[in-house]
Amino acid sequence: MIIEPRMRGFICLTAHPEGCAQNVKNQIAYVKSKGKVDGAKKVLVVGASTGFGLASRITSAFGCDAATIGVFFEKEPAAGKTATPGWYNSAAFENEATQAGIYAKSINGDAFSNEIKQQTIDLIKKDLGQVDLVIYSLASPVRMHPTTGVLHRSVLKPIGSTFTNKTVDFHTGNVSQVSIEPAHQDDIDNTVVVMGGEDWSIWMKALNDAGVLANDAMTIAYSYIGPEVTEAVYRKGTIGRAKDHLESTAFEITKQLESINCKAYVSVNKALVTQASSAIPVIPLYISLLYKIMKAKGLHEGCIEQIQRLFEKRIYNGNDIPLDDKGRIRIDDWEMQEDVQEKVAELWKIAETENLSEIGDLAGYKNDFLNLFGFGFEGVDYDADTNEMVMVKSIN
Ligand code: NAD
Ligand code: NA
Repeated sequence: MIIEPRMRGFICLTAHPEGCAQNVKNQIAYVKSKGKVDGAKKVLVVGASTGFGLASRITSAFGCDAATIGVFFEKEPAAGKTATPGWYNSAAFENEATQAGIYAKSINGDAFSNEIKQQTIDLIKKDLGQVDLVIYSLASPVRMHPTTGVLHRSVLKPIGSTFTNKTVDFHTGNVSQVSIEPAHQDDIDNTVVVMGGEDWSIWMKALNDAGVLANDAMTIAYSYIGPEVTEAVYRKGTIGRAKDHLESTAFEITKQLESINCKAYVSVNKALVTQASSAIPVIPLYISLLYKIMKAKGLHEGCIEQIQRLFEKRIYNGNDIPLDDKGRIRIDDWEMQEDVQEKVAELWKIAETENLSEIGDLAGYKNDFLNLFGFGFEGVDYDADTNEMVMVKSIN
C-alpha cells in the first residue's frame, strides 16, 4: 500500500517501513563514520526500538561490535495497517546487524512485567550467557505494577501551583498560553511509580539473581534537567520527581550489586524530538528555539550523535567516567552551555506565532517529528507501493 503520515494530536497513526529502515541506516552510517569504541560486547537495551534506546542499540552494535538483545513494546503490522515505528526500526536494525555478522534478537512485550524479564533472562542464558551493559531507556505513560496488578498512570504537571507559560502546537506553529493545574499527591506518586527507578532496580536484581550479569557490568538510565522555562512542568514537576527517584536509584543499584562490581549511572541527555517529549507541554517550543540556536552554533545533535558521544567520550573513554556533583553523567553539556541558554531565554520572551518560523526551528522540529515515523527521508520513494507486513525476524 501507499503509506502517508496521518497525524492525530501528538502522534502519527502510520509509520513507513522503508523510511524507518532509512532512519536506522543513517544512524548506523553515522556511528561507523566515528570509528570503533572499545566498549561492551554483550548488551541488553530495555526500550530499544526508538529514541535514545534505539541509538544506544545501534551504537553498541556498530560502534562496539556488541551482540544486542532489545526489549520494547511495539505494535506489529496487520494487513492494511502499519506497525508502530519502533517495530519497523527493530526489523531494519536486525537485518542490518545480521548482514554485518552481529548478533541481534528482540523481545516485544511489557518490560514492566515479570514474564518479559524472565523471557529476557532465558534468552541471555541461551545465547549470550551474560551481558556486560544494560541500557534502561523506557518512556511510558503507564505501568502495571507486577506485584499489585495496579495500573499506574504518569502525568506531566507542576507541583504546588498552577503553571502558565507559552507553548506551541508544532503542527500549526500556533503559539499560545497554556495553564496547567498542579498535581495532587496521587499524581506525583503514580508518576514516580511509572517513570522512577523501581522497575530499573527490579530488572537489575532479576538479572543478577539469574546470574546473567557479568562481573564489572554497567547499567545506564537516561534523565533530563533542562532550562528554567520548563522547570515548573519538567524538573520541578511530577516527571522531575520521577527523575529524582531514578537518579537516586542508581546509587542503590550500585550498592546492591557491589559483589559483582556492577555500577549504575544516570546520563543526563539533551532535549530532543521523540514521541515521549512531543507530548510534554512547553517543551516543543523550547526545543524549536534550542534547535535554531544549537544549529547556528554548530552544536546540534540528535539521539545518535548524543549516544555515540556518550559512549566514546564518557563511558568508554579509557579513563574514569566524568560525573557532576550529583554523580551523574552529563551529555547535555552543549544544551546547557551559558551562551546557548542565554539566547534561548532571550528568544523565549519574544516568541509568538508570527515570528516562530523565523526565530525558532519549527521546520526542523516538524521534520524530526515526521522522521520518527519514517517520513521525510531522502532516498525513500513515498509514492511507491510498499509492504506494510515487515516482520522483526527474531520475533515471528
Ligand atoms: P521513546 O518514546 O523514543 O522510547 C521509549 C522506548 O520504551 C521505546 O523503545 C518503547 O517501545 C519502549 N517502551 C515503552 N513502554 C514500554 C513497556 N511497557 N515495555 C517495553 N518497552 C516499552 O523515548 P525517549 O525519548 O528515547 O526516552 C527514553 C529515556 O530518555 C526516558 O527515560 C526519557 O525520559 C529520557 N530522556 C529523553 C529526552 C528527550 O528529550 N526525549 C531527554 C533526556 C532524557
Ligand atoms: Na528509547
